[in-house]
Amino acid sequence: MTKATENNIQAFWSDNPMIHPGGDFDWRTSTPEDIFAHVEGLMRSEKGTHFQGSDAPILDNFIDYDALRGKTVLEIGYGVGWLINELSKVAAEAQGIDLSKSHFALSSHRFRDTENVHLQVPSAEAIPFPDGYFDFVASYGVIHHAADDQKCYDEVRRVLKPGGCAFLMLYRKGGPKYWWQKMFKQGLLKGGLFRHRFNVASFINSVTDAYDEDSPGAPISRHYTMRDLERLLGRFAKIDVAVTGNRTEWDFLPAAFLPLTNWLLSRAQRDWLLRHSAAYWMVTLEK
Ligand SMILES: C[S@@+](CC[C@H](N)C(=O)[O-])C[C@H]1O[C@@H](n2cnc3c(N)ncnc32)[C@H](O)[C@@H]1O
Repeated sequence: MTKATENNIQAFWSDNPMIHPGGDFDWRTSTPEDIFAHVEGLMRSEKGTHFQGSDAPILDNFIDYDALRGKTVLEIGYGVGWLINELSKVAAEAQGIDLSKSHFALSSHRFRDTENVHLQVPSAEAIPFPDGYFDFVASYGVIHHAADDQKCYDEVRRVLKPGGCAFLMLYRKGGPKYWWQKMFKQGLLKGGLFRHRFNVASFINSVTDAYDEDSPGAPISRHYTMRDLERLLGRFAKIDVAVTGNRTEWDFLPAAFLPLTNWLLSRAQRDWLLRHSAAYWMVTLEK
């Protein structure tokens, strides 16, 4: 991929920060504090089975926060800071890199008085730290958007200490969000696949992380199979994966106005489906 592609990616995420607008929430007229509370509220909402309730650290079913006490950690793609905030409560040093200038501005404001948080705007394709600097690297929904994803995974491995661990959330090619919402409804019924001349990657990019139906999607959004993960992450000593997604994926199928799945299946059954076929890979790696 070219530098121009990375510039487009930076421009997109600077213009479209990860704030999850919708409903009554208008981030352009909100204070930074309202934005942080809004995003954190969503991360803790019951829509995501992988997120926690109001007291537990977010994602503590995937991240062993106790093991990070006093350690040196990196978050790639810190967004508005909901995860680096949790990491900074236990780590001695929490470094963050993110291409988006808006994320940098918002998170720099958020952590202006937090001495162990250090933020920068370089690419994960060239992480500005020496080999073996970090005990732990976290990245939530980021590297599948990078111009050269393989380079980023190799960089994660390079900056980890031997035996160090990483946690990544990556898009999965599967589940109702991918096949039903994107491919069937937006691709076939609404004609997206035809407009993109059946170039699936180009169509999927156009409908992923778009703020609403009329806004553009992120320049790159890869959706991985298990085989893709094995190929991209094969140099790590250990790979452990789990599947999850937002509860909305298996609720209200086949149509939002006709909540058929909710009538037919119990909450426990829909959660079981979510752990077997949904939009996210939760990947734990060891160097
Ligand atoms: C969907 S947002 C996720 C932000 C945050 N992790 C969250 O969950 O709210 C994707 C992020 O990936 C970042 N990104 C994309 N390519 C990158 C790269 N090569 N290096 C660093 N960050 C990158 C973007 O700037 C953006 O912040």
